[in-house]
Amino acid sequence: MLLKNELMGRDMVDITARDHLIVALDVDSLAEAGRLVELLFPRVGMFKIGMRLFNSVGPAAIQLVRDRGAKVFVDLKLHDIPSTVAGAARALTGHGAAILNVHAAGGTAMMKAAAEAARAEASALGIPRPLVVAVTVLTAIDQAVFNGELGMPGSIRERVVAWSRMAFEAGLDGVVSSPHEVADIRRTCGPEFVIITPGVRPAGDAAGDQKRVMSPGGAVRLGASYLVVGRPVIAAPDPVKAAADILAEMGSAQVKNT
Ligand code: C5P
Repeated sequence: MLLKNELMGRDMVDITARDHLIVALDVDSLAEAGRLVELLFPRVGMFKIGMRLFNSVGPAAIQLVRDRGAKVFVDLKLHDIPSTVAGAARALTGHGAAILNVHAAGGTAMMKAAAEAARAEASALGIPRPLVVAVTVLTAIDQAVFNGELGMPGSIRERVVAWSRMAFEAGLDGVVSSPHEVADIRRTCGPEFVIITPGVRPAGDAAGDQKRVMSPGGAVRLGASYLVVGRPVIAAPDPVKAAADILAEMGSAQVKNT
């Protein structure tokens, strides 16, 4: 599914094959982020900047990764009223995000406002527009917490598929989900829809705070478009080897898919 999902040619979105492994730069400083990008680029073509690094050093983190030639998934999980989210999506587009995300729980109007703002800003600046994707149910939430603590009815899987359909109908490019929901989302939203999966763990790695985890090969075989991996790479004794092993597993799962 990875290669079938190439997005080149679709409305100035600029993503290529080696970008399908996204390494999460969950660190606190530009120096640490820069060290990881130096080590891993160009083997890894895209890096994720989430709330930890962004709130520590600001948009300079995006600039640092882009200056080295890599792409950036800005994972700030926007969730607010539509006009505020639109303003944030506009700003992140201007900073050169290749992917940005919002919470599906913010509703259709909010998702549409984000996608429209990103598209309009990219076109005003003459740059490729970022993919705008919706976060469904976080991979650190399990069924007991979902029903008990959060008071949400039904299964996580049903909620993820319903929110994915909502994102699809709002015109978003895709969703973030656990690997366990990928096959159902793919069936519901079709081959072009982008599915980004965190919660990926090579055999033998600790799950940490992630609950709904799967191997890189498993996620690719089920139809994931992009895998997000943080600690199994950045906290490994040898991050280059850890990334290479994951890429090799993704590659052989892809060959078996085709
Ligand atoms: O270290 P690990 O591989 O668990 O990192 C996963 C990354 O993906 C983290 O940066 C986390 O914020 C992010 N993420 C997630 N679940 C989501 C969305 C993003 O784990 N639903």
